[in-house]
Amino acid sequence: MSRVVVTGRIPEVALESLREAHDVDAWDGDGPIERDELLRRVAGADALVTLLTERVDAELLDAAGPQLQVVANVAVGYNNIDVPVCRERGVVVTNTPDVLTEATADIAMGLILMATRRLGEGERIIRRREPWAWGMFYLLGSGLQGKTLGVIGLGGIGQATARRARAFGMEITYSSRSACAPEVAEELSAQRLDLDEMLATADVVSIHCPYSDATHHLIGAEQLALMKHTAYLVNTARGPIVDEAALADALAHDRIAGAGLDVFEAEPKVYEGLLDLDNVVLVPHLGSATIETRTAMATLAADNALAVLAGDEPPTPVH
Ligand code: DGY
Repeated sequence: MSRVVVTGRIPEVALESLREAHDVDAWDGDGPIERDELLRRVAGADALVTLLTERVDAELLDAAGPQLQVVANVAVGYNNIDVPVCRERGVVVTNTPDVLTEATADIAMGLILMATRRLGEGERIIRRREPWAWGMFYLLGSGLQGKTLGVIGLGGIGQATARRARAFGMEITYSSRSACAPEVAEELSAQRLDLDEMLATADVVSIHCPYSDATHHLIGAEQLALMKHTAYLVNTARGPIVDEAALADALAHDRIAGAGLDVFEAEPKVYEGLLDLDNVVLVPHLGSATIETRTAMATLAADNALAVLAGDEPPTPVH
């Protein structure tokens, strides 16, 4: 029997599958575990099942000890994990790709609709009990049909978002490290452009690339200045891909029309300059937040941990 530490609350079905074979210590407090408590709990762990709110670095691996075999992240993104340090120590890292693709694309499309049709603004007016009346020019937004969605990172979630946008009558352009498979390009009628050209021509830009040093502030003042003043920016990937101060400045001065953000640079903090702007929709990192998706993510993470502990290849290792 191995010791498995689960660093936050996850669906019971995943905990049960771990408990069948191992000694499981699961943090069940509300909200993310405090760092000191985390460092204390991981001592002697053979496997860690981690959430994206936990930083997995040399300090944490030291606290766990040399017997640690696997860090199974319950997220597709793994920028919370120092993968090279894990690799140096022979600790396998796994993530949860694919199972959250559709849920996250739903939120991206939802943000596109909310931002372009001013749904947040409208809702706030009603909740503030402000007077309103139907009017020919009241809260006019921007339609999507015939417009262009520019996708940054045409991986699984980018493709799923593009598919939804196609159903809304949009054309697709994308900027990505590598060209997508020809059948995907054909299905989506997607045209690959370099980032600057894509930013300059898209009506909505949706971010779906992973976060790394290379994508830190990929969208800053310079890139926002390339966008049309009628364009919208949506981010459901990771907050620090966008320079929030530059975005707030662009939105405040109507240099772009609007934005929709599910992720933030310093979560759970939101850049103060965004909070009073009506042309940005702000939601608290809900991309994968459906019962079905979170259950699938936790189950996959548990399967990854179980496989490594059994000496097998995990289903979804981080390479
Ligand atoms: C992920 O899995 O990386 C998502 O951000 C979780 O919502």
